[in-house]
Amino acid sequence: MPRAVKKLFVKTYGCQMNQYDSDRLFEVMAEIGFESTDEMAKADVVVLNTCHIREKAAEKVYSDLGRIKLIRNKRLQKGEETTIVVAGCVAQAEGREILARAPVVNIVIGPQSFHRLPDYIFSAEQHKQRIVDTDFPTDLKFEHLPGRSIKKLSAFLTVQEGCDKFCTFCVVPYTRGGEYSRPLKEIVREAKELAQQGSKEITLLGQNVNAYHGANKKGQPVSLARLIKKIAKIDGLERIRYTTSHPNDMSTDLIEAHRDIEKLMPYLHLPFQSGSDKILKAMNRDHQIDKYLDILGRVRDVRPDIALSTDIIVGFPGETDQDFEATMQLVRDVKYAQAYSFTYSPRPGTTAASIEDQVEKHVASERLQQLQALLKEQQLEFNRAQIGKKLPVLLEKPGREPGQLVGRSPYLQLVHVIAPDEMRGQIVEVDIVDTTRNSLAGSLKRAQNKELA
Ligand code: SAH
Ligand code: SF4
Ligand code: F3S
Repeated sequence: MPRAVKKLFVKTYGCQMNQYDSDRLFEVMAEIGFESTDEMAKADVVVLNTCHIREKAAEKVYSDLGRIKLIRNKRLQKGEETTIVVAGCVAQAEGREILARAPVVNIVIGPQSFHRLPDYIFSAEQHKQRIVDTDFPTDLKFEHLPGRSIKKLSAFLTVQEGCDKFCTFCVVPYTRGGEYSRPLKEIVREAKELAQQGSKEITLLGQNVNAYHGANKKGQPVSLARLIKKIAKIDGLERIRYTTSHPNDMSTDLIEAHRDIEKLMPYLHLPFQSGSDKILKAMNRDHQIDKYLDILGRVRDVRPDIALSTDIIVGFPGETDQDFEATMQLVRDVKYAQAYSFTYSPRPGTTAASIEDQVEKHVASERLQQLQALLKEQQLEFNRAQIGKKLPVLLEKPGREPGQLVGRSPYLQLVHVIAPDEMRGQIVEVDIVDTTRNSLAGSLKRAQNKELA
C-alpha cells in the first residue's frame, strides 16, 4: 500500500514576520512531500512558531505543549508518531532549556535556521535524536528557501530582518539577531513569484522595515522607497504596504512615496511607545515626541487621508501619572485609526528588566484600560467617517454569513459585502453603509448602481 502523504500543522504566534516564516516553512516542507493540515491530530509534524516579545506570549507555548502531548499520546496508541518542533523566537531565546522543561519536544530551531528543518525531521524520526539549532548561520536562510508556491491574495514578504536598536524593553535584537537587508534583486524576484501565484497585495516586512538598505546590482544601498517603486511596476500586483517602521528611519523619500506611488496604500504603522520624552529616553528610543509629531505632520501633508496606527507600552519602569497623561495627550492629538497597546512586560536579558522602579501591575492595567478606551473610541470614529463613502475593497475570503465576502479597504479596515464568490481576488468599489469598531459593512449594489446613474 502506498504511504499516505505526510501532514504538517503549524501554529503561529507573534508578529507578521513569524507568519511569513510559517508560509516559507510550508514551502520548504512541501518540497519533501508534506501537505498542510488544520487539524493537529492528523499531523505527523507539529510546529509551534513562537513569540518571545512578552511573558504571556512565551508562556502560552508551554500550556499549548501540554495539550499537544495528549494528542501525541492518542496518536501513539494508534501507532502514529508525531514530531514536535518549537521554532521561532522562544526557541532562539530559551534553546536547550525547552527540551528540559518540555520532554515532549523533539526539535528546537531558531528563526534563522528553519530551512534546515527537513534534515532535522529525518534525524529525529530515523535516529530518535533530540535536536537544538539556535545558530545565527553565516549562510542565510533566504539563499536556501525554494521559490514561492503558496497562493495568497494578500501576501507577506520579509525584506529586512533583525534589529540593532536595542530598545531597553525589547528581546528582538537577541531573538532575531542584527539588522540585515535582503538584496533588491532577490526581493523583486520573490514579489514577481507571488504576483504569478495570484497575489494582489504584498506587505513588505521588517522589524525596522524603513531602515531597509539592501544592495542593488552595483552593490549600492537602495532605500525602502526605491524598493517600493520597483515593486510597484510588477503587473498584477495592485497594492503595496510595509510594516513596522521606526520614527528615526522615516526618510523624506518614503514620506513622498505616499504621495507619488499609487499602489502604496494610505496606511502607516509608526510605533511611538510612550508620549513622555523622559520615558522614551529610558527606553533608548532615541527620538523625542516633537520629532514624531513632525513626521506625522509631514506624512499628513502629502497624504491627508492616511490612516495612522501605532504601538504603545504603558507601565514602563519609572512611568508616573504625568508620563502616562503625556501618552494619552499624544493619542488625543494624533487620532489613530487603530493601535496596539500593551502593559510593559519585563523580559530576561533586557536592560529595563533590572530597573528598580517597576510600576505596580494594577497601576499599569488601569492605565492600559484607560488608554484602550480612548483608542477604541478613535477607531470607531475613524470607521464612522467612512460611512457614505465609496472605497475600493480587495475581496479576499468568505464572510461569516452566506453569500458574504470579506476584504480590506485601502486603510486596512475589514469590509463585509454581499458578493458572489467569483469576485474573490477583485478590487471592487464598495459603498460603505455601516460600521462597528472592528469592521465596515458595504454594499456592492449601490456602488454599482451609482456608477450606472
Ligand atoms: N520594531 C518595532 C516593534 C517590534 S515589537 C518598533 O520598534 O516599533 C512589537 C511591539 O511590541 C513593540 O512596538 C512594543 O510596543 C511591544 N513590546 C515589545 N517589547 C515589549 C515588552 N517587553 N513589554 C510590552 N510590550 C512590548
Ligand atoms: Fe525592538 Fe526597538 Fe528594535 Fe523595535 S526598534 S525591534 S522595539 S529593539
Ligand atoms: Fe515575537 Fe519574534 Fe516577532 S519575539 S513579535 S515573533 S520578532
